[in-house]
Amino acid sequence: MTTFLLPLEHVTTLDDHLASDVGGRGIERARQLGPAATIELISKSGLRGRGGGGFPTGRKWAGIAAQRGDRRYLVCNGAEGEPGTFKDRALIRANPYQLVEGVIIAAAAIDAHDVYICLKASFEREIDLVKRAVEEFQDAGLCDGCSVTIVAGPEEYLFGEEKAMLEVIEGNEPLPRWLPPHIHGLFATAPQLGWESRATDDSHGDGPGAHPTLVNNVETLSNVCHILVRGADWFRSMGTAESPGTMVATVVGDVVAPDVGEIEMGTPLGAVIDAVGSGVKPGRTVKAVFSGVANAVITPEHLDAAVSYEGLAAVGSGMGSAGFIVYDDTTCMVETAYRLSRFLSIESCGQCPPCKLGSSAITEHLERIHLGTGGDDDLAVIGGWLDRVTDGSRCFLASEERILVSSILRAFPDEFAEHIETGRCPHPRRLPIPKLIDLADGTAVYDESFWRKRPDWTYDAIAETDTAT
Ligand SMILES: Cc1cc2nc3c(=O)[nH]c(=O)nc-3n(C[C@H](O)[C@H](O)[C@H](O)COP(=O)(O)O)c2cc1C
Repeated sequence: MTTFLLPLEHVTTLDDHLASDVGGRGIERARQLGPAATIELISKSGLRGRGGGGFPTGRKWAGIAAQRGDRRYLVCNGAEGEPGTFKDRALIRANPYQLVEGVIIAAAAIDAHDVYICLKASFEREIDLVKRAVEEFQDAGLCDGCSVTIVAGPEEYLFGEEKAMLEVIEGNEPLPRWLPPHIHGLFATAPQLGWESRATDDSHGDGPGAHPTLVNNVETLSNVCHILVRGADWFRSMGTAESPGTMVATVVGDVVAPDVGEIEMGTPLGAVIDAVGSGVKPGRTVKAVFSGVANAVITPEHLDAAVSYEGLAAVGSGMGSAGFIVYDDTTCMVETAYRLSRFLSIESCGQCPPCKLGSSAITEHLERIHLGTGGDDDLAVIGGWLDRVTDGSRCFLASEERILVSSILRAFPDEFAEHIETGRCPHPRRLPIPKLIDLADGTAVYDESFWRKRPDWTYDAIAETDTAT
């Protein structure tokens, strides 16, 4: 299988990139084709967004290009906040030039003159690499008519949520706004309509001041120059009909050597865990796999499921951003539910009360069961909140809480019953939550400061080691 996104040798200069089969030729091809045919080619390739939702990229570009707004923007999402995911940073380390070339092509296709590439301020190495790549493209005159700003954003999970990302670019906290970026874009001056009981003005998002904004993930945009040069059929020759191409997967948790690797879409999940993470440790077996924290748990009988949008959906889960967290048979699934729920409840911004209150209550009652002090009443409260936690929510975080926790309750009911009956945890273990700070040479560094993070996004001052491998 061709792997083209993660080259063996890192591409460290624009000259290296231009010396490859693809470098610079994507921009050239897009200029020959013009915006409409460029979008048509991306649509034909079947490329889907790699940020988690899997939305067809060509359709997204076409939608923005068709809007009549007086100004359009492009935002590249490099927040990479999903636990278990390191692929965007791996891609930038391997070749920041293919990303910047994709950004230039996408901006021209939708007629955006201003581009924002958003990374976390803590991603210092990646910020430097992208900055240098942008400057080299500018110096080479390849960035005409397109001004690129690099945004160093906050640590919060919600920074990666596209509506919150626009707020950060505008100088605010990462609190999702009401309307999506294609309707209420960057620096929009039109009123934010849409949550009224009466019918709203249908022209919103399509008139002056709406500034339709395209948000695409780093990996999505990194694919673009390859597709422009090699064509849609080449891209479709890899992967499956519904999920063409490759996926840059991360495998962390209870594996021998956590890593990032490019795999063909459709590869069985067990094979991905073996190929990218070198499998589970000797003598151990897989108990549960999570694709980030936005999808249902995958149990061992589904390790042969295809890693593709449809393959993982068929087993009741989803692709997310292909960040696979593997837990082996030493894992307590009640503790897993508690710790993953805690992550989401802390990261919930609180603008939608059922999300913050519900995820916090679910976490609290899961902790009681995990510690052996919980009973059937706790399960009943959790069930009640799982029904309501998504009420009126303006982003997908509350749905993540509902999907994730209810899937663990459904898949491992005996473990909850055992904790309640015996009043103790049979497999006590301080489970790692892989919010990744670094991942290289088979070693993952997790952000341990997260355990000190409070629901209001401040931190406990207790001095302890902030990182652990
Ligand atoms: C809570 C939350 C966090 C998210 N974090 C990220 C992220 O870190 N990176 C990312 O690319 N998309 C993230 N997304 C998805 C984005 O909102 C958006 O769908 C994506 O950037 C679109 O790009 P794509 O079409 O290329 O996938 C997140 C979504 C939610 C609800």
